[in-house]
Amino acid sequence: MASAQQFEEGTTLDRFLMDTMREYPHATGQFVNLCQSMALAGKMISARVNRAGLAGMLGAAGGQNVHGEFVQKLDLYANDVFKASLEHRGHTCMIVSEEEGGPVLVPSRYESGDYVVTLDPLDGSSNIDCNATIGSIFGIFKRKTPTGTPATREDVVRPGDDLVASGYIIFGSGTLLVLATEAGVFGFTLDPTVGEFFLSHPALKIPKGRIYSVNEGYRAQWQPGVVSYIDGLQRADKPWKARYIGSLVADVHRNILKGGVFLYPATPGSPQGKLRLLYEAFPLAFLVEKAGGAATDGRVRILDLHPEDIHDRTPLVIGDADAVARATELMSADPSF
Ligand code: AHG
Ligand code: MN
Ligand code: MN
Repeated sequence: MASAQQFEEGTTLDRFLMDTMREYPHATGQFVNLCQSMALAGKMISARVNRAGLAGMLGAAGGQNVHGEFVQKLDLYANDVFKASLEHRGHTCMIVSEEEGGPVLVPSRYESGDYVVTLDPLDGSSNIDCNATIGSIFGIFKRKTPTGTPATREDVVRPGDDLVASGYIIFGSGTLLVLATEAGVFGFTLDPTVGEFFLSHPALKIPKGRIYSVNEGYRAQWQPGVVSYIDGLQRADKPWKARYIGSLVADVHRNILKGGVFLYPATPGSPQGKLRLLYEAFPLAFLVEKAGGAATDGRVRILDLHPEDIHDRTPLVIGDADAVARATELMSADPSF
């Protein structure tokens, strides 16, 4: 992948992808095509999010997903849009989505590609109706099983270190697609007047910061290591700022730009935490590490974890490397953890 300084701001996503593909003589074009599918889905969801109140897209869809969570209409819309954008272009063989009970194989009427996509189609659903920032999160694996055969669990139930790319699309004051590959992390802002994503954040690197992001409503349930870490931040000579949007993608994006740490610890009620490994923690951990940050579960590196099931959960500590190291030191030293 070309280094970001070769691209001036204003480069379109398509040009960025085509120019960087030239560095890979054996590239088939599937990865570029996959990223373009993600961009199309992002444009469609952005249009719907921006007029959700007018398009009858607010509120619950009336059902619960495999996690027993009440599904919002926009969760289902986003899930359908991603599947429709990914299934027929010959780059993907299987999709694992928060909103699907099991892995979804690309229908046999379409050509099956080399990539497996893990997906949180809409993250931060509780924020939809109050017009707060939400987003979509994706991880990309290269299949292990032979091309042309049906993909299997082996292609997706695997360590996060196997990811080849990941990203998110954040629907806030603007729509931003952030893509992480082996070459780094690049942000593209959607210009809705022309319907194009333009490079706006070349080579994102996470700075050291003094922002912590955690739901303090659970403080009484935290293990002592988390309590002492947060107390230490609040009692520092220069106390840290608290920011919590309640959308993982928005909280992590802010910390990538400003530094600091996001925590979603385990609690007695959720001993594995709330966040899902395959389509929330893995993609964001891959991306934050490419931006120079770190991500652990409070003890070990997130990308070293090996899921048992596609919907496994994990505690998450993610942000600038210094902050994550200090939090992990206190949490892992805690015998109760
Ligand atoms: P999702 O909407 O995909 O279910 O994700 C919601 C997650 C995540 O976005 C956020 O960090 C977390 O839920 C907030 O949980 P709490 O309300 O328990 O803080
Ligand atoms: Mn989510
Ligand atoms: Mn979701």
